[in-house]
Amino acid sequence: MPKLSINIDHVATLREARKSSEPDPIAAAISAELAGADGITIHLRGDRRHIKDRDLKILREVVKTSLNLEMAATQEMLEKALEIKPDMVTLVPEREGEITTEGGLNVVDNYERLSQIIPKLQVNEILLSLFVNPDIESIKAAAKLKTDFVEINTAKYSEAKNLGEKIEELEKIERMVDLAYRLSLGINAGHGLNYKNIVEIARIKHIDEFSIGHSIVARAVLVGFERAVREMLELVKSSS
Ligand code: PXP
Repeated sequence: MPKLSINIDHVATLREARKSSEPDPIAAAISAELAGADGITIHLRGDRRHIKDRDLKILREVVKTSLNLEMAATQEMLEKALEIKPDMVTLVPEREGEITTEGGLNVVDNYERLSQIIPKLQVNEILLSLFVNPDIESIKAAAKLKTDFVEINTAKYSEAKNLGEKIEELEKIERMVDLAYRLSLGINAGHGLNYKNIVEIARIKHIDEFSIGHSIVARAVLVGFERAVREMLELVKSSS
């Protein structure tokens, strides 16, 4: 049965809208775990526009499930990860000013740089995941880099304009999950998943974990954090 990691970045986005101290992402992480979440994900961006160093530090102490740190493959972030030691690091591309992560890593073009960073994290017992688009080259390159996981970018599936496009993207993800599985990679998936589109994708076999943020935080504003998490958990676990 797939796991569900809750991305709480947008709790921090709301806090930063007023540069205040609430809502506190730490409280959201505790609520998510109380509701049964399998993990907590945060993205510490270079510009610190939502999650701050303080959040990462406290979450490392508070999170009892599994803490996944999304970060760019920079020296600054490498040092931060080695200091805090999250359970997993997911390397993502980062462009200044982007609204959200715009796509998967170009693993092939960044192969050398990634091959320097990845072992430094793994040797410190941090599981390593690469956020990749659902394409053969990226997944094969990730396997060659000996990453523990790939996180397959589901943005195109989430943004599909019609049923045909949706089925096409779903089938592509299914083929890439199958390839990653055959290459002995762990498989995560996320970006743009919500209470409707999760159902079909959760039926794909061999996905270890979904990483979902915006739709859960958006629902939590209206129905409460624990309920929003419980409802998504129910969909993830019952659809598989
Ligand atoms: N996975 C990665 C690598 C991401 O960058 C994000 C967005 O921060 C997510 C998953 C979650 O996406 P969403 O907020 O659309 O659920």
